[in-house]
Amino acid sequence: MSLELSAPPQSEPACADDGVWLECIDCGEQFAPFEEIHYTCADCDSLLEVRYADAPTFEDFEGSGVWRYNAALPFEEGVTLPEGDTPLHEVPRLREEIGVDSLRIKHEGMNPTGAFKDRGMTVGVAVAKELGVGRLACASTGNTSAALAAYGARGDMETLVLLPKGKVAAGKIAQASLHGARILEVDGNFDSCLDIVQELAGLGEVYLLNSLNPFRLEGQKTIGFEILEEHYQDYGEYPDRIVLPVGNAGNTAALYKAFRELVASGALDESEVPTLTGVQAEGAAPMVDAVQNGRDEVERWDDVETRATAIRIGNPVNAPKALPGIYNTGGTAVAVSDDEITDAQRQLAGAGIGVEPASAASLAGLRKLRASGEIGADESVVCLTTGHLLKDPDAAFEAGGDPEPVPNDTDAVLEHINDGNDTMAGRLAQQLSKVADSSALPAIVGGGLGLAYLGYRALRSDDN
Ligand code: F0G
Repeated sequence: MSLELSAPPQSEPACADDGVWLECIDCGEQFAPFEEIHYTCADCDSLLEVRYADAPTFEDFEGSGVWRYNAALPFEEGVTLPEGDTPLHEVPRLREEIGVDSLRIKHEGMNPTGAFKDRGMTVGVAVAKELGVGRLACASTGNTSAALAAYGARGDMETLVLLPKGKVAAGKIAQASLHGARILEVDGNFDSCLDIVQELAGLGEVYLLNSLNPFRLEGQKTIGFEILEEHYQDYGEYPDRIVLPVGNAGNTAALYKAFRELVASGALDESEVPTLTGVQAEGAAPMVDAVQNGRDEVERWDDVETRATAIRIGNPVNAPKALPGIYNTGGTAVAVSDDEITDAQRQLAGAGIGVEPASAASLAGLRKLRASGEIGADESVVCLTTGHLLKDPDAAFEAGGDPEPVPNDTDAVLEHINDGNDTMAGRLAQQLSKVADSSALPAIVGGGLGLAYLGYRALRSDDN
């Protein structure tokens, strides 16, 4: 398999522009980066990577946000809102309950449009400007479309997004709409939207800004740089493992590329590279299928379904870049159920971290692999949460408690909030109806109110 963790340095080819070129990950063919548009290899149609004459070191990084890492990017600056510099939350109670040495949550939902996509778009839209293209387009489960619309608007460019009809969370469509994208709803899933937009790009109708575009992943590499830098600052060492949700496997590929570049410059030792661990929803898990069967290729799933609509994807186009990342870092991949995802979403919310369902898959995956012993108690772990809670308000309402109606009267409100029994019973009933399928609760579902109250208290104290 190509894309080894430690590759010999490359000399700059004649086609390079200021030390930057495109290279096929399979046949090695090299292309000028900004003369013609290439999404895949013109010779063999495999994926392309952006390559640089100089690999970055930590000393090269200065400033903040994505463009702090411009020594590892094709330009000095891009179309910015700005993005990156997201929090790496501590979650002490969750860490203790799951049982790992350290646990941090890298919350990419804190980017300007509420998802990690902004990191890719700040670079991708800058490349589009350099190429002088007209209309920008993407297929999307929602977040890419929101980011494309916002960055397109910022860059004063026309945007077109193709979405799977009825399967995109409300917040994301609202963003794409208000930022001025033309929205086409396709009667198919994400993978068919991507097929169509790739064909439109092939015809020269649009400039494709899905993660198939190698420049998008350059911006997303900066998630890896930020995690390494901040973890080192806090603990004097890099994390053992990064657990992340997988859809198209762009982030998995991008993090692996960040680590390879630091290994190439000598800034990071091979032994210090975090183990990449991908998590998919059970109803859309072709990568997990490939990893668990030790395959080098992913087989497309035509029928996919999950509450985590952001990762409702059956054909992860970046798998040829991401699978080596998982294998060469000693990682793995695991599938989690929708209920496990919702439980994890509640647990993160209980620690004050609001994420959309796909994001919570990382925590659900950690919990599962820790329970099975595949992740050890001595590991330092970072879970990536990819999108903000407000992206999918319907899922948040489903997972959370309901508002309690009260009369328009202070005395009645006082009575309501201080009437312990009523309040407790009401809130308990709510919790039970919301989480009756939770593994923590079956014992209390059939019990009397006293027993249920104890269960309720246990739930509240676990819920962090
Ligand atoms: N998490 C969220 C919130 C996402 O929106 C996506 C992908 C992923 C995880 C998966 O990341 O593709 O790098 O493995 N969303 C794309 C979109 C497909 O159209 O918004 P990946």
